[in-house]
Amino acid sequence: MSAKIMVAGNWKLHNTVEEAIALAGEIASGLMRDDVDVLVCPGFLALEPVALSLSSSSVLVGGQNLYWQDSGAYTGEVSGPQLKAAGASHVLIAHSERRLYFGESEKTARLRLEAALRAGIKPILCVGETQEEREGGQTEGVLQSQLSGALAGFEAGQLGDLLLAYEPVWAIGTGLTATEEQANQAHAFMRAWLESRFDKTVANSTRILYGGSVKPANAAGLISQPEVDGVLVGGASLSAQSFLGIIQAA
Ligand code: 13P
Repeated sequence: MSAKIMVAGNWKLHNTVEEAIALAGEIASGLMRDDVDVLVCPGFLALEPVALSLSSSSVLVGGQNLYWQDSGAYTGEVSGPQLKAAGASHVLIAHSERRLYFGESEKTARLRLEAALRAGIKPILCVGETQEEREGGQTEGVLQSQLSGALAGFEAGQLGDLLLAYEPVWAIGTGLTATEEQANQAHAFMRAWLESRFDKTVANSTRILYGGSVKPANAAGLISQPEVDGVLVGGASLSAQSFLGIIQAA
């Protein structure tokens, strides 16, 4: 749907600052395409050093999370203005690992979305069903409630910078990938929901990335689906060779 594909890497809790800078450097020097938007999301400590090391490259840098207050007595948190000043163009919101291990909800996803937009950072809202929910025929219901909860109160005009990531929980880090048809169908559902809740412009301009065991071998098939605007890669983004392989396949 989108003219330009995005390939994003979520480095999760991996890499020291030094290792992150080295990985970013390998990706930047091996990058042979300018028709794909490439984003890497290092851990917070490495974000600014990685952004500085990539300043002469087209590779974008994003956060993996942010807090919804801009500043104040919130020990241990990182804010939108801090991320923006450190060089983040994007930020992941409500990744399933945040939902599972850190109790994040639709309400906190909405607060984080507001904070990202306020700071001028493009939010990538992550949604997806568990294996049990898929087997119970609840995939669309889950996607709808995650989207409607996180986007409650927003108006179409506020969402020009929004991206979505469909990350079925059962496909994350498991080696199980959604089939091309499953991914396309979920994305089509999400786009139709955006159109009914907002309008056609939001539906058509919102990039929807697929995430869950994306590798060089399956990336081309997934990205070729009409509703898939890119991929959000975990494990395979930790090696420059496999991440560049995915970018080449896009
Ligand atoms: P894997 O690619 O390791 O399955 O992780 C996907 C993911 O969670 C990206 O955010």
